Amino acid sequence: MQDQPLTELTLDQVAKEALAALGAAADGETLEGWHVTYLGRKGQVTQLIRRVSDLPKEERPAFGKRANEIKQALEAAYGRHAQALKVREMERSLVEGAIDVTLPGRSTAHGRLHPSTQVLRRITQISADMGFQVYRSRDVETDECNFQLLNFPRHHPARDMQDTFYTTQRDVLLRTHTSPGQIHAMREYCPEPIRVILPGMCYRYEQLTARSEIQFYQVEGLAGGYDIRFTDLKGTLTDFAQRMFGSGRKTRFRASYFPFTEPSAEMDVECILCDGRGCRVCKHTGWLEILGCGMVHPVVLQNGGYDPSVFSGYAFGMGPERSTMTRYGIEDIRYFWGNDLRFLEQF
Ligand code: PHE
Repeated sequence: MQDQPLTELTLDQVAKEALAALGAAADGETLEGWHVTYLGRKGQVTQLIRRVSDLPKEERPAFGKRANEIKQALEAAYGRHAQALKVREMERSLVEGAIDVTLPGRSTAHGRLHPSTQVLRRITQISADMGFQVYRSRDVETDECNFQLLNFPRHHPARDMQDTFYTTQRDVLLRTHTSPGQIHAMREYCPEPIRVILPGMCYRYEQLTARSEIQFYQVEGLAGGYDIRFTDLKGTLTDFAQRMFGSGRKTRFRASYFPFTEPSAEMDVECILCDGRGCRVCKHTGWLEILGCGMVHPVVLQNGGYDPSVFSGYAFGMGPERSTMTRYGIEDIRYFWGNDLRFLEQF
């Protein structure tokens, strides 16, 4: 082009080429390259314009005017094309980055309370409403507190190696029930009246089956004072059962035996699955056993520091897992401590 004679036609020719190339520029990078090629400092149009001095004087004004027109036209076309590319780019990103708000959300996994914890908290809440304080007692016990002070006869089967987890230390064992907590609580409260519940884990060296585990919860209750009778026990536990299993739910007491209570009883509640009509869970009796109870044995009161001639009390002990199983139709007690999420997530 350097060698060709310079005319307005040369300008028009370059402009035509430039416009054609511009139309083909499909992205920002090509577009910038185009601007450098034609309108940049060393661009074709710029260089042509510089050659104006080669022309005879009289041709220069017309050439200059035409050159300016062309340069402006090309700059304008460049601007429009850049704008169009920008719009196209925006539309493309809108389509590609579109969010489909109709897609279902992804839920996060939340932790939740273990069913036993839920039931324990409910029992604690109801007991607190009824004036019982929570008293914490140890899981590792002495033979003395777990058995002797609770009036267990020397050769009671519960003391057998079959039933108790003994430690390597003589006379130190894992508690087989929460009742030894009665001794600790009485010794702490004596000679004041007392009204406590003692929730906690208990351990028994037993064959694992669908109905029995080697560890399970119990909630012990103990109320003592200077005028406490069996009617107080019946009234309180009936009230408790109604708050726990629904008002109007029937209860009954059956005579029983525990070494540390006299008289002793067991309380049944009308089956919550069949409303007492009889079903597989209640073995067609219409009743479910929920706790053992009785008046604290004079010997035990004495071991706790109280004078049984003026002081009396009642105690009860329930196993919340059994009623949880009944309530939710859980068929195997081993699910409780198996930590299977498929089980736990149902609560
Ligand atoms: N400790 C008894 C048991 O494990 C339950 C119980 C507690 C009975 C308090 C009477 C009074 O079975």
